[in-house]
Amino acid sequence: MKIDIVTIFPDFFDVLEVSLIGKALDKNLIDISVHDLREAASDPHRSVDDTPYGGGAGMVMSPEPWGVTLDKVLTKDSVLVVPSPAGRVFTQAQAKELAQKDHLVFACGRYEGIDQRVIDHYSASYTVLELSLGDYVLNGGEVAVVAMLEATLRLVPGVIGNPESLTEESHEEGLVEYPSYTKPRTWRGLDVPEVLLSGHHEQIRQWRHEQSVARTKRMRPDLLPD
Ligand code: ADE
Repeated sequence: MKIDIVTIFPDFFDVLEVSLIGKALDKNLIDISVHDLREAASDPHRSVDDTPYGGGAGMVMSPEPWGVTLDKVLTKDSVLVVPSPAGRVFTQAQAKELAQKDHLVFACGRYEGIDQRVIDHYSASYTVLELSLGDYVLNGGEVAVVAMLEATLRLVPGVIGNPESLTEESHEEGLVEYPSYTKPRTWRGLDVPEVLLSGHHEQIRQWRHEQSVARTKRMRPDLLPD
């Protein structure tokens, strides 16, 4: 899978060189290029933003440098992802969809976002997804892109050592995951639930399912059908 990221903070993405994503890069399972939006700025100050038409606080990212950069990186089958607090909330289902694509381009906005015409223009020729990490405002799209990439890339075949762990985790089957325990059997007076020591696979499966449902009811009732 090929990934291009456009940002005014290219160094921010050094973080991708560590952990599982770093290993996937080493194995050439994925290829990530980071582009500095300011390289496409035409003025000596390399500015990429301007005041909003209609007034109001903050600055808006100008369409020109975005147009120059995106015209270079987008190809026929690219999916353009624009992180934005105004987008649809990014979910596990979305991560699965993105993991199937050959080319993802991430456009990191800062300030009050990117001039809307950039999204409108590219939506005419490409799949453009405006995605939010959640109902809060970050300073820019960079943190959101790292989170979306981690959620997506771990689903790309070969990135995770043990693919079975992917089917038994939160948000598979619309539930959050059951609680997990390891050694020692007793820690600070707290015991591991007896059933997990029983070796009885069917009872363990059933207990874990019940725990998932109970935890989802308690923590994330919004995930359950009415
Ligand atoms: N940019 C600023 N806030 C964001 C959010 N919540 N999700 C995605 N991108 C953002």
